[in-house]
Amino acid sequence: MPYTAEHPLRVAVLASGEGSNLQALLDSCRPPSPALVVLVASDRGEAKALARARAAGVATHCIADPGDGAALTGVLREHAVELVALAGYLKLVPPEVVAAFADRMINIHPALLPAFGGPGMYGGRVHRAVLASGATLSGATVHLVNAQYDRGPILAQWPVPVRPGDTAESLAARVLAVEHRLLPAVVLAAAEAGRVVPLPPAADFGMPDLAPARGT
Ligand code: GRF
Repeated sequence: MPYTAEHPLRVAVLASGEGSNLQALLDSCRPPSPALVVLVASDRGEAKALARARAAGVATHCIADPGDGAALTGVLREHAVELVALAGYLKLVPPEVVAAFADRMINIHPALLPAFGGPGMYGGRVHRAVLASGATLSGATVHLVNAQYDRGPILAQWPVPVRPGDTAESLAARVLAVEHRLLPAVVLAAAEAGRVVPLPPAADFGMPDLAPARGT
């Protein structure tokens, strides 16, 4: 059953840092959207993500160490969360939480998985590895979370060309701009479908200038 503005998909976001992807969700998942961010949880009390949530009037929760996941699962249940979005969350999500939200937990990764993913591949490390490899294409991926790091089924990807002279910072900034479109698109598609669904490969996110030229 599709969610509606009256009965929106209840989304929790887990974030450890800046929270710009969280902000993109806060901006797009609010009335009259069929999705609503109802909780933001972090492992770091000083994370800007928590300040963004407070500014938006969204409930926050801080758990420094998720341990076996029982407390985190409890908080998610208390808020009747139906979809969990990991957006720059640096702690391992305990298997209990992954199991409790099977097929209902998504992650955004700043590269074209399965390349440049896995343990230790986060933040600037991802972009430095892409540049060091000589790859001419990077991008953003949203995938379902399962027990294996960065290996859950892919839901959506959008390419970002690597430009000559790119630094990890310049590439990260261009990928991040795409992430801000891709993550809300997946959440809103889930709300409209009534369950997490892959986006069509040719989905138009309104950023054709970032797509590689056709036929090349
Ligand atoms: C993003 O690049 C995300 O893909 C990665 O960590 C970064 C978080 O950025 N997992 P922000 O906290 O959303 O600004």
